[in-house]
Amino acid sequence: MKYKRFSKGEVEAFIDSRRAVFPQYFNDEKISQEEIEFLLEMANLAPSHKLTQPWRFKVIMGAALPRLGKFMAEYYKQSESSDQFQQRKYDKAIRKCEKSQAVILLCLQRDPKESIPEWEELAALSCAVQNLWLAASALGLGGYWSSSKVIGALDQFTSLEEGERCFGLFFLGHHDMPEVERKRDPLPTKVKWITD
Ligand SMILES: Cc1cc2nc3c(=O)[nH]c(=O)nc-3n(C[C@H](O)[C@H](O)[C@H](O)COP(=O)(O)O)c2cc1C
Repeated sequence: MKYKRFSKGEVEAFIDSRRAVFPQYFNDEKISQEEIEFLLEMANLAPSHKLTQPWRFKVIMGAALPRLGKFMAEYYKQSESSDQFQQRKYDKAIRKCEKSQAVILLCLQRDPKESIPEWEELAALSCAVQNLWLAASALGLGGYWSSSKVIGALDQFTSLEEGERCFGLFFLGHHDMPEVERKRDPLPTKVKWITD
C-alpha cells in the first residue's frame, strides 16, 4: 500500500525525537556512506513549486573535514579585528569539524530563468533539510543546521555552480547527547482559528 497511515503516537514519536545535536556531543562511531546516501534520498523527497528541486548538497568527509575546520577558523580570524579575536573560537571551529563524521553543505540552485521567487526555493530547501534531519534522528544520528557567517564564503572552500548559494552547514555524527526538554511557546499563541 503506497499511502500508508501511521498512528498519531508513531508520528509524534518520529517528529518529536528530532533535536539539534551539537558536535560537542558527537562520539567516534563511524557513519557509513550508505547512511548518508539514505539521508540525502529522504531529503530528495521534499516538495518544490514547479518541481524545481533546488536543493543541492555537498558532502564533506574524510580529509576534507580538517580542511573545512581550518577554513572556518581562518575565516573567523580574518573577519574579527585583532583585539576581538578569541583563540577559543578559532579552536572551536576546528574542533567542530574534527568531531563530525560528515558536514553537508546545504545549497540552493536557482533555476536559470529564476521563474520561482527565491523565498519559495529556500522554503523547498528547508523542507529537504527537515526531511534529512528527521531521517538522521530516526537512524540515531545527531546533527544541526548551522547558519554561521562562513556560509557566505564557502565558494572559496569548494566550487559552486552559477546561481548556486550556500545557506547552511549540517554537522553530522553519532552522539551521546542527554535528553533535552523541548522549548516551544504554547501553540495557541501562534494559531488563530477562523470559522466564519
Ligand atoms: C535555518 C536554521 C538555522 C540555524 N542556525 C543555527 C546556528 O547558526 N547555530 C546554532 O547553534 N543553531 C542553529 N540552528 C538550530 C537551532 O538552534 C535549533 O533548531 C533550535 O534551537 C531548536 O532546537 P531543536 O532543533 O532541538 O528543536 C538553526 C536552525 C535552523 C532551522
